[in-house]
Amino acid sequence: MLIRPRRLRVTQSIRDMTAETRLSPSMFVYPVFVREGHNIIEDIPAMPGQKRYSPDTLPRVLERAVKNRIGGVLMFGIPEHKDDEGSEAWRDDGAVQTAIRTAKREFPDLTVIADVCLCEYTSHGHCGLLNGNKVDNDSTLEVLAKAAVSHARAGADIVAPSDMMDGHTAVIRSALDAENFADTLIMSYAVKYASAFYGPFREAAGSAPSFGDRKSYQMDSRNVREAVKEALLDVEEGSDIIIVKPGMPYLDVLKTVKDAVNVPVASYCVSGEYSMIKAASERGWLDERRIATEAAFCLARGGADIIITYHALELSEWIRE
Ligand code: PBG
Ligand code: ZN
Repeated sequence: MLIRPRRLRVTQSIRDMTAETRLSPSMFVYPVFVREGHNIIEDIPAMPGQKRYSPDTLPRVLERAVKNRIGGVLMFGIPEHKDDEGSEAWRDDGAVQTAIRTAKREFPDLTVIADVCLCEYTSHGHCGLLNGNKVDNDSTLEVLAKAAVSHARAGADIVAPSDMMDGHTAVIRSALDAENFADTLIMSYAVKYASAFYGPFREAAGSAPSFGDRKSYQMDSRNVREAVKEALLDVEEGSDIIIVKPGMPYLDVLKTVKDAVNVPVASYCVSGEYSMIKAASERGWLDERRIATEAAFCLARGGADIIITYHALELSEWIRE
């Protein structure tokens, strides 16, 4: 007897009914860049279609996010002034803090996630405080905690530390609890590789390091066991959700981490992945819609409960059609 797996593929309706993986707008998180200032909507050349918004113009794009019922938005800040300590990161009237307050006022049900890091705020562009030419893990922790509390105070539902300092989740958790933010979640970038795929983001956020690289704190792309170690530590320290980043080139990492932890796992489909799709589509070499949808399915199949993607708005429209 001939066994025919192909039978499951004979009609679109049967393929849909039997599909092993599904996408829903509620699993998408849309990253947005918030720039200090007023009345700004600015193109990001390396990321066609993405823009920098000032806190007062941001609601225009948030409205589309709400209409599409996406899972949430992830905010990155671009301050006017940077210093050695990145002190704008914990200013209660900073760009992101202001944007969070506006967003929660206009769209109370929209989940707002605040990225917590120093690289957008430090004059040297590193994710932590420097001691000489080295990023100093332990002194950075207090500063990250101050930034996290400031975002929680502004109304963030979730804080997302992307610094890759050891012990960040524990320190942020106890700082949040001490300030009565027990219900603020931590979605930590537990597994974040030192990756060239972040190139366009650094242009978007003006956060490229002024010297050296991030290899002393971000992970080595040759490793996967180390990802499990990082993920388990962050979960133990109190992460509610963990992020694996980048997305598609790291599907094996995503799958391995997913199988090792008991919390939701988010995959971050990063700026370089977005820009590659955009560039090839602009040349007519790839079909943007089909590629972006396939990529999202692949991430979901690989274990992503949540997908952080610059295509979040389009994807939620496309999958509804
Ligand atoms: C900052 C941060 C980065 C990204 C998210 N948070 C950049 C970096 O580590 O250099 C990358 C996002 C992307 O490329 O889309 N710590
Ligand atoms: Zn950083």
